[in-house]
Amino acid sequence: MGKVHTLLVFMLQVMYTVHAASTFSNGFFYQDILNGNGNGEIHFNGIKLRVEAQPHSVFAVRGSNVTLPCRFWYEPPLISPRRVRVKWSLLPLSRDHESDVLVSIGHRQRSFGAFENRVHLHKDVHGDISLTITNLSLEDSGQYRCEVIDGLEDESATVDLGLRGVVFPYQPHHGRYHLTFKEAQKACNEQDATVASFAQLFAAWQEGLDWCNAGWLSDGTVQYPIVQPRQPCGGLDLAPGVRSYGARHKHRNRYDVFCFTSTVTGQVYFLQRPQKFNYTMAAQACIDDGAQIAKVGQLFAAWKFLKLDQCDAGWLADGSLRYPISNPRPSCGPQNSGVRSFGFPLPYNKHGVYCYRSR
Ligand SMILES: *[C@@H]1O[C@H](CO)[C@@H](O)[C@H](O)[C@H]1NC(C)=O
Ligand SMILES: *[C@@H]1O[C@H](CO)[C@@H](O)[C@H](O)[C@H]1NC(C)=O
Ligand SMILES: *[C@@H]1O[C@H](CO)[C@@H](O)[C@H](O)[C@H]1NC(C)=O
Repeated sequence: MGKVHTLLVFMLQVMYTVHAASTFSNGFFYQDILNGNGNGEIHFNGIKLRVEAQPHSVFAVRGSNVTLPCRFWYEPPLISPRRVRVKWSLLPLSRDHESDVLVSIGHRQRSFGAFENRVHLHKDVHGDISLTITNLSLEDSGQYRCEVIDGLEDESATVDLGLRGVVFPYQPHHGRYHLTFKEAQKACNEQDATVASFAQLFAAWQEGLDWCNAGWLSDGTVQYPIVQPRQPCGGLDLAPGVRSYGARHKHRNRYDVFCFTSTVTGQVYFLQRPQKFNYTMAAQACIDDGAQIAKVGQLFAAWKFLKLDQCDAGWLADGSLRYPISNPRPSCGPQNSGVRSFGFPLPYNKHGVYCYRSR
C-alpha cells in the first residue's frame, strides 16, 4: 500500500506539473500501479500497444514442428519494459469456442491440455512472442490468437494454422449412410484420420474430389463435393461445387463421413506371398514382417505424400480392399490418380495386403 500511495502522490504531482505547463492540454494519463515497471515511469495514453502476426497463415504437416509468428511493441517505444501477460489460444476448426494453449507471465509459462510439453514461447527484448508447437497433430489446425495484456491494454492478432493433407470419403463395412456424427468421428480416428473441416473438403474439391455420397464434416454439417454435375448426384442443373444438406441432427441422422489425414511418419508397402492371404492371415503376415496391417488413412497419406503406386488390391485394417495409383495406366483402373476401392470383400477371400511400419 505504501508504494501505491507514493505512486499516487507522484502522479498527482506530475498531473499538476503537466497541467501547469499545459503541454498536454487534453491529456489524462494513467499509471499502471499493479503492473508497472516500478521505475515510476508514467505512461501517457498516447502510448499504444501493437500486436502483429505476420504471415497470417502457416501450413505444415503432421509430426513436424511449426512456429506461429507474433510480436508486440509500443508506439512510441517505452523507456523501460512493462511486464506483460502473453496468452495463446486456439479456435479449432471444429468447435466454436476458444481453448487455452499457453499463458506466460514473466518467466513463468503454463501450457494446457494436449499442448502440455509441446509448446514453447519465444520471448525476447524485441517483443517476439512467437509460439513453437512440436509434433503437430491433426487436431492442432485452426485459428490461433496471440494476446498481450499489460494491465491496461489488451491487444491481439490471429494466425491460421493449416495442415497439408488429404481428404477421403469413408463408408464402413455395413454400407452407405450408417454413421451418426459420433460414429463418424470414431470411424475416422480408427483410420488414422480426423473428420474433415469444410475448408479441407473445399480445398479437396478444388483439387478434383468428386463424390456422390454425403458425409459429415467437423462442424456437424453434411455435404458432398461435385466436380462433374450429373443426374444421380443432384442433377445437371446444379453448378459444380460443394453441396450442403446443412447442419444435421448429430444423434439421429446417419451419413458417410469425410476424413482428413496428413503425412505418415512410417512406411506403407504391399506384401504378397504366392498363396495370398485371407483377412486374418493378412493381418498376421504384416505382424510377422515387423509391421501392422495399414489403415485407410495411412494408405491415402502414402499415396498423396509418397506417391505410392501399386496395381495390386490389398487388404486394409478395416477389412476393405484397395490399391493406390499415382501413375494412371490402362490396366490399373480409371484414368485419374487415386486410391481405388473394391469395398469390403468376404474375409476368407485371398489377396495381398498393405502393411504399415513406423520408423
Ligand atoms: C522438433 O523439435 C524437437 C524438440 O525441439 C526436436 O527434438 C525434434 O527433432 C524436432 N522435429 C522435427 C521434425 O524437426
Ligand atoms: C507425436 O504425437 C503422436 C500422437 O499425435 C504420438 O503417437 C507420438 O508418440 C508423438 N511423437 C513424439 C516424438 O512425441
Ligand atoms: C484364414 O485362413 C486360416 C488358415 O487356413 C484360417 O484358420 C482362418 O479361419 C481363415 N480366416 C478367414 C477369415 O477365413
